[in-house]
Amino acid sequence: MPRLSDEFISEIKYRNDLGELAGSYMQLKRRGRNLVGLCPFHGEKTPSFNIYTENGSFYCFGCGTGGDIITFVMKIENLDYMEAVKFLAERAGMTMPEDDYDDSMSKLRTRIYEANREAARFFYSKLVSKEGAEGLRYLRNRGLADSTIRRFGLGFAPDERFSLGNHLRSRGFTEAEMIAANLVFKSRSGNSVLDRFYNRVMFPIIDVRGNVIAFGGRIMSDQKPKYLNTSDTLVFNKSYNLFSLNNAKNSKSDSLILCEGYMDVISLNQAGFTNAVATLGTALTADQASLMKRYCKEVILCYDADEAGQKATARAINILRGVGLPVRVISIPDGKDPDEFIRRHGDKGHAAFQNVLDNSGNDMDYRLQKLKLRFDMNASQGKLDYLNEGVKLLCELDNPMERELYASRLSDETGVSRDSILEQVRIGVKRKEKGRRKQQFSQMQRRLSGRDDSVNPQRADHPRVTNAEENLITYLVRNPDKLTYIHERVSPDDFSTIFNRKLYAYFSDKILNNLDPMTTVSADFSSKESSRIFYIVNARENFANTPQALDEYIGIILKEKAKPSESEIKNSSSDEFADFFSRMKNDHQ
Ligand code: GTP
Ligand code: MN
Repeated sequence: MPRLSDEFISEIKYRNDLGELAGSYMQLKRRGRNLVGLCPFHGEKTPSFNIYTENGSFYCFGCGTGGDIITFVMKIENLDYMEAVKFLAERAGMTMPEDDYDDSMSKLRTRIYEANREAARFFYSKLVSKEGAEGLRYLRNRGLADSTIRRFGLGFAPDERFSLGNHLRSRGFTEAEMIAANLVFKSRSGNSVLDRFYNRVMFPIIDVRGNVIAFGGRIMSDQKPKYLNTSDTLVFNKSYNLFSLNNAKNSKSDSLILCEGYMDVISLNQAGFTNAVATLGTALTADQASLMKRYCKEVILCYDADEAGQKATARAINILRGVGLPVRVISIPDGKDPDEFIRRHGDKGHAAFQNVLDNSGNDMDYRLQKLKLRFDMNASQGKLDYLNEGVKLLCELDNPMERELYASRLSDETGVSRDSILEQVRIGVKRKEKGRRKQQFSQMQRRLSGRDDSVNPQRADHPRVTNAEENLITYLVRNPDKLTYIHERVSPDDFSTIFNRKLYAYFSDKILNNLDPMTTVSADFSSKESSRIFYIVNARENFANTPQALDEYIGIILKEKAKPSESEIKNSSSDEFADFFSRMKNDHQ
């Protein structure tokens, strides 16, 4: 791919401040020269996400993700490299260089967005035409006002197999683009392409930037499948997106209402609750929870009242808590879903739902209430079992005041003193904390031992020299003026691990050409590799950056190189073998 110049990327980084940009997605606190916060890329309760303001990079010690401002935008906005660069260029008021840099993947993504937008227009125009009369009737019968239909851009896919495909072709889209957008698919004979959606009312799914990324289509009868959704494409992953987040993010509320279905969200919007969102026909994922966390302080769970909905509620509570989001739970009276509930209340839908909202408990209320139903509270054993399970739930609370509050409630319900309940909770919390530390420790040990190092798999066989190589690379990047000194002593061939050898050659080349070594790391390496590089170069706090330490690194690398390789050992005579072992021994003294 024709690439952007280092100068342009440097300029992008110079004109955009990582700390400031990241601060618009998450809360950051200053710690010394760094900024720290809860990692937006994985769920955690104690901050391990660091921003190194002096060099504009970040690293999370929890999940091992690291990079520069471009990496940050790629991950948080779900963009590819070129799109992230464009995003940052626009943000800084810069114009991109001539238009021949685009790689084909980026171009195809853009075409998919365009095809989807055109499809949404097409479906809407059908809905309000004669052909779409049945669809419009269906939506109106479900209580939707025409203004709501427009607001959501709802549409109708006619009962034909070539209608959207023909339309898109007339607008200049190729078959490959339509297939990549999952709007059409090849017929079994392979001779034609057929529309994926026909005879359904259509719900466009729009991301927070306003792109149409997918569709859900509902059949207007009892046939199956009731809903048909776009399969995952280059621009759409059903586990990363939420329906109507584009609307909800503009609502004034600090909370998001999470429902099961498209129609629930639309009804809630019509009744004035624009902060409603829904998953896209799958169970809630941790990625969706992290996404929500960017736009709210609290989630109100509003799943269907049936058994499936209640199971999903229990699951969702855990996932949301896992990313540190407080949860409230709504129970809709009379076994309804929010859509039916609101419609049944007609003009008073808003007030009725507001009343339900006001009476919602937090997730602990909900869980204790559900738990209690499982035990015979008239029997001592039942009470005891309830108490034991209840204490386990209370151990998950981080806030001591909350713990006291619920301990009081358990005490009232069982007649056991609040103090002895709190004592049990204290013991449980301690045990959990210990378990967590142990797990963290063994995780860290595994990482340090390099047994599962996929970026540099040779680390396991050469732990000491791998570290020395990383140290040398870090030294070189931080002290580019020492290039000649280092080059006179170490050549790439002296490196024992292939990955580090590649890094050494890469950075040497950058420095020789008077370029900043780190500028295009995120373009030139895979996401895992560049995370590693940002870690070794920027994130290690106890790195020894002295000339003495440098000579030590070089010494270790050269000594390892001087050792005969495994095959040399196998082929060597017994004298040589003895000699080798005596040298090995000396090394370790
Ligand atoms: P209505 O019957 O139109 O009110 O839908 P609902 O939202 O009440 O439907 P339901 O509770 O059955 O489903 C909730 C959500 O699950 C829907 O909005 C869809 O996203 C998804 N869903 C339901 N049925 C199907 C299906 O047959 N296939 C797929 N892929 N998703 C479905
Ligand atoms: Mn419904």
